[in-house]
Amino acid sequence: MGARICQLLVVIFIQISITTGQNNDREVLQALKNYWQNTPPSWDDGSDPCGGSWDGIRCTNSRVTAITLSSMNLVGGLPGDIGGLTELQILDLSYNTGLTGSLTSQVGNLKKLTNLLLVGCGFTGPIPDSIGNLERLRYLSLNSNGFTGPIPASIGNLQNLYWLDLSANKLTGSLPVSNGSKPGLDMLTHAKHFHFGDNGLSGNIPPGLFNSNMTLIHLLFENNELTGSIPNTLGLVKSLEVVRLDRNGLSGIVPSNINNLINVTEMFLSNNRLTGVVPNLTGMSLLNYLDLSNNSFDPSVVPSWFTTLRALTTVKMQSTNLGGELPVDFFSIPQLQNVDLSDNRLNGTLSIGSNPSTQLQLVDLRTNQIASFTQRRQYSIELILVDNPLCMESGVTDKYCSLPTTTNASYSTPPNNCVPPSCSSGLVSSPNCQCAFPYMGSFFFKAPSFSSLGNYTIYASLQDQLMTFFRKANLPVDSVALKNPSRNLDDYLVINLEVYPSPGPSFNRTGIVGLGFALSNQTFKPTKDFNTYVFMSTNYDNFLPETSGGTSGTKHKSSNTGIIIGSAVGGSVLVVLLVLAAMYAFNQRKQVERTSQQTQPFAHWDQTSKSGDAPQLKGARAFTFEELKKYTNNFSETNNIGVGGYGMVYRGSLPNGQLIAIKRARQGSSQGGLEFKTEIELLSRVHHKNLVGLIGFCFDQGEQMLVYEYVVNGTLKDSLSGKSGIRLDWARRLKIALGAARGLQYLHDLADPPIIHRDVKTNNILLDERLVAKVADFGLSKPMSGANQTHITTQVKGTMGYMDPEYYMTQQLTEKSDVYSFGVVMLELITARKPIEKSRYIVREVKQAMDKNKELYGLQDVLDPTIGLSSQLKGLERFVDLALRCVEETGNQRPAMSEVVKELEGIMALGGFNPGTQSSSSTSASFETSGKDYDHPYSNDSLFAYSGGFMPPKLHPK
Ligand SMILES: *[C@@H]1O[C@H](CO)[C@@H](O)[C@H](O)[C@H]1NC(C)=O
Ligand SMILES: *[C@@H]1O[C@H](CO)[C@@H](O)[C@H](O)[C@H]1NC(C)=O
Ligand SMILES: *[C@@H]1O[C@H](CO)[C@@H](O)[C@H](O)[C@H]1NC(C)=O
Ligand SMILES: *[C@@H]1O[C@H](CO)[C@@H](O)[C@H](O)[C@H]1NC(C)=O
Repeated sequence: MGARICQLLVVIFIQISITTGQNNDREVLQALKNYWQNTPPSWDDGSDPCGGSWDGIRCTNSRVTAITLSSMNLVGGLPGDIGGLTELQILDLSYNTGLTGSLTSQVGNLKKLTNLLLVGCGFTGPIPDSIGNLERLRYLSLNSNGFTGPIPASIGNLQNLYWLDLSANKLTGSLPVSNGSKPGLDMLTHAKHFHFGDNGLSGNIPPGLFNSNMTLIHLLFENNELTGSIPNTLGLVKSLEVVRLDRNGLSGIVPSNINNLINVTEMFLSNNRLTGVVPNLTGMSLLNYLDLSNNSFDPSVVPSWFTTLRALTTVKMQSTNLGGELPVDFFSIPQLQNVDLSDNRLNGTLSIGSNPSTQLQLVDLRTNQIASFTQRRQYSIELILVDNPLCMESGVTDKYCSLPTTTNASYSTPPNNCVPPSCSSGLVSSPNCQCAFPYMGSFFFKAPSFSSLGNYTIYASLQDQLMTFFRKANLPVDSVALKNPSRNLDDYLVINLEVYPSPGPSFNRTGIVGLGFALSNQTFKPTKDFNTYVFMSTNYDNFLPETSGGTSGTKHKSSNTGIIIGSAVGGSVLVVLLVLAAMYAFNQRKQVERTSQQTQPFAHWDQTSKSGDAPQLKGARAFTFEELKKYTNNFSETNNIGVGGYGMVYRGSLPNGQLIAIKRARQGSSQGGLEFKTEIELLSRVHHKNLVGLIGFCFDQGEQMLVYEYVVNGTLKDSLSGKSGIRLDWARRLKIALGAARGLQYLHDLADPPIIHRDVKTNNILLDERLVAKVADFGLSKPMSGANQTHITTQVKGTMGYMDPEYYMTQQLTEKSDVYSFGVVMLELITARKPIEKSRYIVREVKQAMDKNKELYGLQDVLDPTIGLSSQLKGLERFVDLALRCVEETGNQRPAMSEVVKELEGIMALGGFNPGTQSSSSTSASFETSGKDYDHPYSNDSLFAYSGGFMPPKLHPK
């Protein structure tokens, strides 16, 4: 009976939840979560997206109203489920290149949507017609995807549209215009922006596209396949400020009423097939930037009215059939910066005039018929007169008669009165000289008013505008840097942006989606001289580790439940429902208790698989599966930094910011519990400066994982191959050889029981931020168990090229097998050649090239050219001798690692290099004292300033 009442109440409860709609949104979000890779870790806390803890989700009255997840590295598509979020107003998934597939027609159900931003994703296929149902839409940005097919005519129904950006897709077909019942773009009278550039749109620009009711300010149709003439209706849209019709196949006469567009400041009609007279533009008194280049205008002289356009900064009329003499006062236009009148038939005498613009930077008059130049006085502008008669006389050496070398501005925001520190790999020094992981991307300004890139005050101004905006918007920004301004082939001004977090060194997800939205949604508006932009960001994957939002999320959830109940029902039902709610809350609390139990070390020692008691560890800690899942962003693709025989290696970060590398055994390749325990007990006792330290392990839910420190500068192999960009001179190579040798000597002589590495190779020697060598990967290591055991018989494992031939033949593994591999590493260190390259073996190659009677043993030709000048390779001969002793055929002819260390120390001393204070004997002493407690070599360094890993972080995979 009681049970039946309960059942009934549960049914009522569920129904109430459905009528409030909350459950539905929750299911949709869960579906998205399951569908996408790399959702924020906070999405794993609690099941209620409106609980307040889910990054990128905003709710009102328990309905999802905004999803902002730009630059999250999401992978997947946009499933039809999204259509269930009927209260959604903002959807910003910009800068997730991993979002692919077609745009579901279910977006048409999102009737409340005002902002749909999918900038720079990987969507393909047609833009669904249903998009025309989104009557409240104000911002539609589908730019920089792979959309195909025509622009849906239904977009014409979006009466509230303000911003329409479809640029940089693969759209084809003609521009839709209304016709009776059929909608068209001409109906978008509230739209200010038509950005359709960089597509394959074709056909005429229909006269019906424009009318006097429109309020467009930016018309960007550049780089399409539009043909026919420019319709004279364009002259009706008097609000226009930027007109880009360049790089199409437009022909015919430019309609004269274009001169009515008195507010135009930038106009590009270049690279078409326009004919007739050069258009009269006297009405455009605000015109800054004019490009009419590469058209078929009738032959004419340079129009005299140009000088009446006092705002001009840039005049480009390359190859436009201009003849006659350039007017003397042409360069007196006060703000003139760049003039390109090349490839015309200008003749007579050139005069810069007595009063040229003080901003004049570049005058390109190459390939004309100019016979003389009156003004040979000192001028600071870049003047190009190549291929004019006056430069063809013999003996002419004037500077303007040769082509200038490239004149790219190399601006980069300077440090703010501080000395930039050298940062570890992946980190960048901010203008305030803090090492951090910046959010990076590029601005593409499609119609700036200026053309000179050398005026650095412009960039300083943009910097200030950005900082002012970020502060006002309460975004966690410390500083911004602008870099490498340039013009691209579309004549867009490209400026790279780096945004630095405050506090450093990383942004959290809320910070990133806030920045992404501000830039994808054009919330940041620069001053008018920059005009419109597109921002393209790279994925950000250096997030601060999430602080667990689990408990607070749960709290929110229960209170929300209370509100729903309170507002939905009254009377006695309420009482019973409150009891249910209390039961629910109790359950939640139990769950919380469960999670806190999980963080107890060894709580998750999997005792089911006969693995005995939890292991006795020195310093290494036990992680739960859930913890490591969180630290690696659900073992995401981007955090996967390597693969080995045993499984995958992942990068992650601990809540304290320490970077870690996780070796996750593949199902099936994991060992028995006892074996695993033995291994981690052993590894946890191994502490040495030249060995990658074990931080912990996971033996939980059938998983076996080892958690190591992450070593920032990656493998020695990557440095030798030039991949990492770290230059290794002879001194550094010696230091690395000695470090690795000390690490191996420790394993052989001081670890208890001794450990044979079994897979010594340049791939397993990592370099930290100070290029200290750290030997990695003990996965294949085998301890020598008995005290007087001299070898162990095992199945042969290792890597071709490094493998001891004796071990290979006898299957008897000794320490000397590591010595052999180390000898190969030494040869690789001086030659930077792979052990086996084009079926040639490095050991034989060196032996054959060697002539002991010559200087450097005559090895100059096989040495790595980047090792340094031969005069500085002190001790190289001894180094080669040592390497060749290490690769002797039989183990007993090879030196022990301790001898190798001594000899390397000797070689370093010979070269005058400091072999480091740590002699091999003090190594053991320091181990004895510091080995008692887990003592990370850099545990006192600040967040991220230290080490860890198998490869440098992939900062921005594209
Ligand atoms: C402009 O709007 C007015 C008022 O809504 C309308 O009567 C007129 O037909 C429109 N003109 C054009 C060219 O669409
Ligand atoms: C031209 O620009 C000015 C200033 O922005 C504005 O007030 C005016 O309305 C614009 N003219 C037209 C025809 O839109
Ligand atoms: C250009 O147009 C203006 C106004 O429409 C007119 O006054 C002027 O005479 C024209 N100039 C030329 C050279 O056609
Ligand atoms: C210069 O060009 C103009 C216009 O093309 C032409 O009429 C004139 O004869 C040319 N003068 C000389 C000196 O070639």
